[in-house]
Amino acid sequence: MSSLRLESVSKEYSMGDRLVRALDSVSLEIQAGELVGIAGRSGSGKSTLLNLLAGMDRPSSGAIWAGNRNLAAMSSRELANHRQHTVGMIFQFFYLVTTMTALQNVALPMAFSGVAASQRLDRARSLLESVGLRNREDHLPAQLSGGEQQRVAIARALANDPEFLLADEPTGNLDSATAQEILSIFKELNAQGRTIICVTHEMELFSGIVGRFIRLQDGKVAN
Ligand SMILES: Nc1ncnc2c1ncn2[C@@H]1O[C@H](COP(=O)(O)OP(=O)(O)O)[C@@H](O)[C@H]1O
Ligand SMILES: [Mg+2]
Repeated sequence: MSSLRLESVSKEYSMGDRLVRALDSVSLEIQAGELVGIAGRSGSGKSTLLNLLAGMDRPSSGAIWAGNRNLAAMSSRELANHRQHTVGMIFQFFYLVTTMTALQNVALPMAFSGVAASQRLDRARSLLESVGLRNREDHLPAQLSGGEQQRVAIARALANDPEFLLADEPTGNLDSATAQEILSIFKELNAQGRTIICVTHEMELFSGIVGRFIRLQDGKVAN
């Protein structure tokens, strides 16, 4: 179990001849086993921070430590490997493969990491069961409600048994009752020891489950 630690991390994007500083010298630490919310206005750098923690992107400067490994110093190949085995991601708009069933979507990440076919389906079934969707395994995403699609996406994120679950506004597209179901799943996964980092601007909703919020303002930590 590793902590995540940012040391003076900045991220700049060039927009034509202009430089946008999405994160400005951010230092923070998230302990293994925490359930942390990342809050802040639109444009404050939440998604940028989450993508850096996930190893989806590299900082312009600074270090990002997952345990004793610095993601900022990894090659693209090492970073891809780190993501595959250590990180599960969940998004506002689910991003399921529309032509695949729920079961196939959940099994997909295991195909990339070389799990045997029979084992993939067994594990995918038990993951769907754990999010209450065993009876929906043959449904295509379009045949599922938003909340069900997000539960499939959570099962998929767990496919390779990641240490960190990173979610970007996972309830942003759901009604409040459905959002509560997703929060209950997060709470349970966290109780099982999974580290969860969740971007949201619904602080009130999430205050029931997160241990604390990291608040971003103009690319800096505000609290
Ligand atoms: N790929 C990109 N290219 C250029 N600017 C970007 C890119 N991604 C984000 N930004 C800018 O960086 C800032 C932070 O964006 P983001 O991390 O998406 O904020 P949030 O998720 O809090 O809404 C914003 O000003 C945004 O326009
Ligand atoms: Mg965002």
